[in-house]
Amino acid sequence: MSTMSNKDNEKIPADLVILNAHELVTMDRKFGAPRIGKKMEELAIINDGAVAVKDGKITFVGSTKDLLEKVQITSSTTKIDASDKLVTPGFIDSHVHLIFAGSRENELAMKLAGKTYLEILDAGGGILKTVRETRKASIDDLVFNGKIILDKMLRHGTTTVEAKSGYGLSTKDEIKSLEAAKTLNDTHPIDVVSTFLGAHAIPPEFKGKTDEYVDLVISDMIPKISEKGLAEFCDVFCEKGIFSIEQTRRILLAAENHGLEKIIHIDEIVDTNGAALAAELKAVQTGHLLQSNDSGLQLMAKAGVIATLLPGTPFCLMLKDYAPARKMIEYGIPIAIATDLNPNCWTESMLMVIVLSCYNMKMSPAEALTAATINAACAIQRENEVGSIEVGKKADIVIFDVPNYYFLSYQFGINLVSKVVKNGKIVIENS
Ligand code: NIG
Ligand code: FE
Repeated sequence: MSTMSNKDNEKIPADLVILNAHELVTMDRKFGAPRIGKKMEELAIINDGAVAVKDGKITFVGSTKDLLEKVQITSSTTKIDASDKLVTPGFIDSHVHLIFAGSRENELAMKLAGKTYLEILDAGGGILKTVRETRKASIDDLVFNGKIILDKMLRHGTTTVEAKSGYGLSTKDEIKSLEAAKTLNDTHPIDVVSTFLGAHAIPPEFKGKTDEYVDLVISDMIPKISEKGLAEFCDVFCEKGIFSIEQTRRILLAAENHGLEKIIHIDEIVDTNGAALAAELKAVQTGHLLQSNDSGLQLMAKAGVIATLLPGTPFCLMLKDYAPARKMIEYGIPIAIATDLNPNCWTESMLMVIVLSCYNMKMSPAEALTAATINAACAIQRENEVGSIEVGKKADIVIFDVPNYYFLSYQFGINLVSKVVKNGKIVIENS
């Protein structure tokens, strides 16, 4: 005879529960996905919150009292006590240059001596130094390096990343880079969403022949990468002296024809009217926007293009200008924030990015957290799977050793993560 009563049978199943969260930030999509303007402040918080998970998916979100009534907890259910703790959706790092070899720690001295980013690149350093090292690396080397980065990201609460190629700059080396990203997605707990960034710099063998390189990207790289299913997005570094507005448009229209979604690095150093182009092409997201003009920003707001702000980059380049986040929020542009991790700006920590967003772009702690979760999910078109704690979504959840979300923007330079749950399993236990 079964020992289970009918009542137990009606209960919601769970193999993991989180109980007693002092503050459970759900980021429920009822306030929008992406959240725009004042809605960026709406975190959909539950105090004394609880979450139940079964087979990697969220089955219940509510108060601890309700969970204890409605969810079936057995001796085999994993229980996490989140008393005095903050619980949030896993961070989504929506702009990451994940695949590369080597490092560029030597460039700090050049920057301190007053050399600019483009001067270092012109002298064969910067991206081009990383290209030389990435071309020499095997796919196994690139997977090895990427895994080290992803491991650190996971420890800092990131559960999904966008991963760009862009240091191969030949068909063979771009494919190698994207194959490394695919292997990382298949083998690492973090979900990796791939972006082809063949138009990241002009490779040395095409110096002075940018249009010919653009032709190669369009006629050879994009068709092969799309055919192999190696990327979902295509990105271009649209910048004065790198790829022009016209070249960027050509590349992204070709990408669209091959089923790739559009991302653009725009107006990082010089305003080339990248924001207007992003609106015209209906890009999903754009990165940087330090110099974008007002009319371009207004067009982006109208077109619903997400601005992924990357405050780690002006920080590492020691620039005085940061992206005008307040103005963008006022215009109604959906804002995400991301690390931009690359050999010039190397941080795995979305917590660091949250801090920089508040202190240097004057975003509120709530806006920064929205930009790091649900809005970042939208920036990689994953808002129906991740970015909020809602029934049916992936159980990608972070438990922090702090009582409320303000602390994420307050205590800086240390890892505040206590535990990370990825696909319903505890994958990180820092405390
Ligand atoms: O987004 N600006 C272009 N690309 C990267 C940097 C790449 C590098 O310096 O290696 C960025 O900041
Ligand atoms: Fe970037």
